[in-house]
Amino acid sequence: MPAISASASGKIILFGEHAVVYGRPAIAAPVEQVRARVVVTAEPRRRLGSVLIQTPDLGGQAYLDELPQDDPLGLAMRLTLEHLGVSRPPACTLWVSSTIPIAAGLGSGAAISVALCRAFAEFLGAELPAETVSDLAFEVDRIHHGTPSGIDNTVIAYAQPIFFVRGQPIQLLQPASQFTLIIGDTGVRSPTAAAVGDLRKAWQADPERYEPLFDAAAEIAIRARGWIESGQVQRLGALMDENHVLLCEMGVSSAELDRLVEAARAAGAWGAKLSGGGRGGNMLALAPPERTAAIAESLRQHGATRTITTTVRAHKPPQ
Ligand code: PMV
Repeated sequence: MPAISASASGKIILFGEHAVVYGRPAIAAPVEQVRARVVVTAEPRRRLGSVLIQTPDLGGQAYLDELPQDDPLGLAMRLTLEHLGVSRPPACTLWVSSTIPIAAGLGSGAAISVALCRAFAEFLGAELPAETVSDLAFEVDRIHHGTPSGIDNTVIAYAQPIFFVRGQPIQLLQPASQFTLIIGDTGVRSPTAAAVGDLRKAWQADPERYEPLFDAAAEIAIRARGWIESGQVQRLGALMDENHVLLCEMGVSSAELDRLVEAARAAGAWGAKLSGGGRGGNMLALAPPERTAAIAESLRQHGATRTITTTVRAHKPPQ
């Protein structure tokens, strides 16, 4: 049997992070330049049920039945087995790799779960629809992180830009024209769960202060959807700037993020903001195509450890 593989891209949140946890809408898009990949190889010489997971990037390997219950890779596999009603899978080795930076707001955890569920299910003879893969990846995130909104698993499983509201059916976005984003990494690793948990405590202590910030972020996401779907992409810049101010007020920015956001604007970006959990991780700038290289260069000069330039493509109606 030939090896089976599946991959999933990273993602970036364009608008509405954090507020999305509180039921407000957010917008996210896939980032194709970074990917998680899983290859499954049958091991007919090993006993039934023997599943070996190799993670060369992390320098490790383990058998599924040795992994702790809350290990995210183990969870993704157990949930897939449970979903398919398989108790003892044929012996196999899963090789898991990823070029998505960890704890940087690019969806590395969800992408690994999505690729893992897809590849493992296919090895077991099932092709899972995007909705199921998204649900399984959400379950992994939920057990592992507490209160995720579900935006990461959704945009990654569907591999298309989305307008996302927690608990509501998926709304795929149809950009009328393409636009270019530059992602700058502060190099500061910042687990999303910590920023989400701290904001939750602050909100619980003073909801009157935070609710209006979430409402303002919701309005921005709704306006942004309009500009994206009508192709007036330059106007998204001002909305990014506004959204960044709100995120600062929510207490999830950092000196490094603010510095990169400022640098991007000074180098000619139409707008810029932090993206994802904040406190570190990545920021995002919207750039006129002719300024992309200069903005990326300026971000690196101002301390970005890595930049990724990505294009959100225009939606092509099916022929
Ligand atoms: O740090 P990221 O990109 O995984 O994004 C987290 C987005 C939050 O809104 C902060 C949390 C969530 O679950 O939606």
